[in-house]
Amino acid sequence: MSKAMKIAIVDDEKDMRQSISQWLALSGFDTETFASAEDALKGVNPDYPGIVVSDIKMPGMDGMQLLRKLKSLDSTLPVIMITGHGDVPMAVEAMRIGAFDFLEKPFNPDRMTELAKKATQARRLTLDNRALRRELSDGSALMNKLIGSSGPMVRLKEDILDLGQADGHVLIEGETGTGKTLVAHALHAVGARGSKKFVLLSCSAFDEDTLIRRLFGPVQEDEPIPAMEDARGGTLVLEDIEALSMVMQSRLLTAINEQGSPAETRIVAICNLQEQDKTCESVLRPDLFYRLAALRITVPPLRQRGEDILTLFTRLSEQFAEEYGCDAPEVSAQEAAQLLQAPWPGNVRQLINVAERAVLQSRRGTGTIASLLMTDTDDNKPTMTTEGKPLKEFVEAFEKMLIDNTMRRHKGSIVAVMDELCLPRRTLNEKMAKYGLQRSDYL
Ligand SMILES: Nc1ncnc2c1ncn2[C@@H]1O[C@H](COP(=O)(O)OP(=O)(O)OP(=O)(O)O)[C@@H](O)[C@H]1O
Ligand SMILES: [Mg+2]
Repeated sequence: MSKAMKIAIVDDEKDMRQSISQWLALSGFDTETFASAEDALKGVNPDYPGIVVSDIKMPGMDGMQLLRKLKSLDSTLPVIMITGHGDVPMAVEAMRIGAFDFLEKPFNPDRMTELAKKATQARRLTLDNRALRRELSDGSALMNKLIGSSGPMVRLKEDILDLGQADGHVLIEGETGTGKTLVAHALHAVGARGSKKFVLLSCSAFDEDTLIRRLFGPVQEDEPIPAMEDARGGTLVLEDIEALSMVMQSRLLTAINEQGSPAETRIVAICNLQEQDKTCESVLRPDLFYRLAALRITVPPLRQRGEDILTLFTRLSEQFAEEYGCDAPEVSAQEAAQLLQAPWPGNVRQLINVAERAVLQSRRGTGTIASLLMTDTDDNKPTMTTEGKPLKEFVEAFEKMLIDNTMRRHKGSIVAVMDELCLPRRTLNEKMAKYGLQRSDYL
């Protein structure tokens, strides 16, 4: 059951205030009373979790002025006005300003309850929608930062949205630089805890004694408050969970168990998978693992994201080009193939480096993308992935990149793009739809 809705009752007459309040409280509402419009304005804020019932005739600011003020504060707030007997012009005026409804004195208490029910239902809907919109807009800013539309990325984003709504602890797994920390941020932002504290602590950044203090306290001078306490009610992200010693694992398990269920603090553990054969399951004690891995997200390595590699490269090099005040390098077919085939052991972080260096190189007019890929792997090993990819995937990724680049250069002019790429309009439209490219993004 959701919490009872509030009703603010504004009347200068004490008896009237109290009897309305008692009656509505009996009907299950959470009432509060105000002896003047001025007082009511101090107690009712724009997100007021309820409605207002106000008398019109009051000394000082009267009910009509109060109604106007409240409507300018929050135009959707339902306000029920109580008018004198037979005061039709007043009632009409109140409705015109935006009162939810009016009650004529002396009124039938059941009619009052009925109106209050209708008004609070409307209010609840408004507030729920408002919260949802806020959540979505906050969350989507971070979700938009996660570039990529390949199958694995689409599934990752769906996982984030789904698990954001759930409330169990989460385990995020993935290779280095894949975006695990970014995913943890997004997971927090899209969830019900989005407005609460987000605290991040790296388990590999401190020696055991320091880590215990940072996590559980008691802290020493100049140290921040313990993460567990700081994150209460919100999300606590523990990075590099695989670095926890056995002692720390058992302390963490105790702390998690003490929280009970549902947990006050949501723990998001991030596990860095370096060697292919090591799993998070093999480095954590089983009871802790099962606690943390109630929900799991795997962030795919970059080499499995196909066309996203080129999309990311293009976006990132454009950003760097802007930063350095030069043009973004054009990617040849051969270079695109090299980007797509590179093993990317450092994943997105490595791609960011390569994009930045590619921009600097092209500004100087020297170097190739291939050489950048080479120096990022140990001792000039060949830079092809062992995972074979079908030719179709390369062709499509390249096609998408070409259309994307050309649309960008021509600022969304379909005719210019058709011309340059020698494509009939229909083919261009079909291909844009296929690759999820929208003309409006280029205007
Ligand atoms: N899909 C993506 N789109 C755009 N930027 C991304 C994406 N994924 C990651 N990044 C960026 O790549 C960098 C590395 O991401 P992040 O730090 O989240 O990776 P990580 O997996 O936590 O790395 P580590 O293993 O070192 O902790 C960050 O700058 C992040 O903003
Ligand atoms: Mg990280």
